[in-house]
Amino acid sequence: MRFSGFIAGLMALAGAQGAAIDAQDQLVKRASLTQVQSFGNNPSGIKMFIYVPATLQAKPPVVLVLHACAWTANAFFGTTKYGQLADQHGYVLIYGQTPTDGACWDVSSKQTLTHDGGGDSTGLANMVKYALQKYNGDASRVFVTGESSGAMMTQVMAAVYPDLFAAASEFSGEPAGCFYTGTVRGWNSQCAGGQVHHTPAEWASMVHDMYPNYNGQYPKMQVFHGDVDTTLNINSFNESVKEWSGVFGYSGSPTQTLDNNPGSRLTKYIYGDRLQGIWGHGFGHVVPTNETEALTWFGLL
Ligand SMILES: *[C@@H]1O[C@H](CO)[C@@H](O)[C@H](O)[C@H]1NC(C)=O
Ligand SMILES: *[C@@H]1O[C@H](CO)[C@@H](O)[C@H](O)[C@H]1NC(C)=O
Repeated sequence: MRFSGFIAGLMALAGAQGAAIDAQDQLVKRASLTQVQSFGNNPSGIKMFIYVPATLQAKPPVVLVLHACAWTANAFFGTTKYGQLADQHGYVLIYGQTPTDGACWDVSSKQTLTHDGGGDSTGLANMVKYALQKYNGDASRVFVTGESSGAMMTQVMAAVYPDLFAAASEFSGEPAGCFYTGTVRGWNSQCAGGQVHHTPAEWASMVHDMYPNYNGQYPKMQVFHGDVDTTLNINSFNESVKEWSGVFGYSGSPTQTLDNNPGSRLTKYIYGDRLQGIWGHGFGHVVPTNETEALTWFGLL
C-alpha cells in the first residue's frame, strides 16, 4: 500500500514535469477564458484569468483588463470584445479579478500605491510578467485598461508600474493616488465627490513617490469620463488630466479638440502625444468601454 502509493507519487511527479516541459499550453486551453492558479507572488490573493487565442503573434502583446466593483472577470469578458479582437490580432489577454466576488480593486492602501509594495498592484504586475514569460510576449507592448474601479486601478498600474506598461486607457476612474485612505479597499468619499484638487506638480510628485527610483518613460494615458457622472464626480476628469500633464510636462491645455471623436457625444482633447482625454456629453457612470478605441491608442489596430 505504502509502496504503490510511493510509485504512484513518483509517476505523478514525472507526469507533471512532462506537462510543464513538453506542452506549455496543456494547462491553458486556447481560445477560452481560463483561470491560472499560480502566477507568482500574489500578496492580496487576487485572481488571474487568461485568454490565449488560437493564433498568437510570434512575440505577442499583452493586454490586462480590469473589471468594475461588483463584477467578475468572466462577466466582464462576456460583455467586452477584447476576446474576439485577440482572435483577430493575436495578443494575450488577461482579466484580473478581485479576491472576493464583488469587491473593488485596492486603490487606497500604501501597499497597492507602492512599486512591489504587496497589494493588488503587485499581483497584477506578476500576472503580466508570468504571461510575458510563458508566451514569449513583447515586453514593449503591454497595456492596461478598465472601467470604474478597474479604471482607477488602470491609472494606479500606470503610476506604480510605469516600467511594465506602454499605454493605458481608462473608462470613468480617478487619478492615481486620489483614493488614498491608508486602508485596503477603502472608499475615499472626498475623491469620489470631486473635492480632491492638486496642481499638476503635486500630482506628478505623488506619482513619482509610488516608484521613487524610476527615471524612465511613463505609459501613454487615455482618460474617458462622462459629464453627468454622479458616482465619481466629473472633477475627476480635470484632475486626471492635471496628474498626467504633470508627469509628462504638458501645459494641461488641449493642443487639439476633436468633436464626435471617437464617437457621437464624445469630445477628444489632445494634450500631447502621450495624453488624451475623452469627455462624454450626457454620459453618467460609466462611459462604456470602446475596445477598438483603446486598442487603437495601444497601437494594436
Ligand atoms: C475642466 O477644465 C476646463 C479647462 O480648464 C474647464 O473649462 C472646465 O470647466 C473644467 N471642468 C470641470 C468639470 O471643472
Ligand atoms: C469607438 O471607437 C471607434 C474608433 O476607434 C469609433 O469608430 C467608434 O465610433 C467608437 N464607438 C463609440 C460607441 O463611440
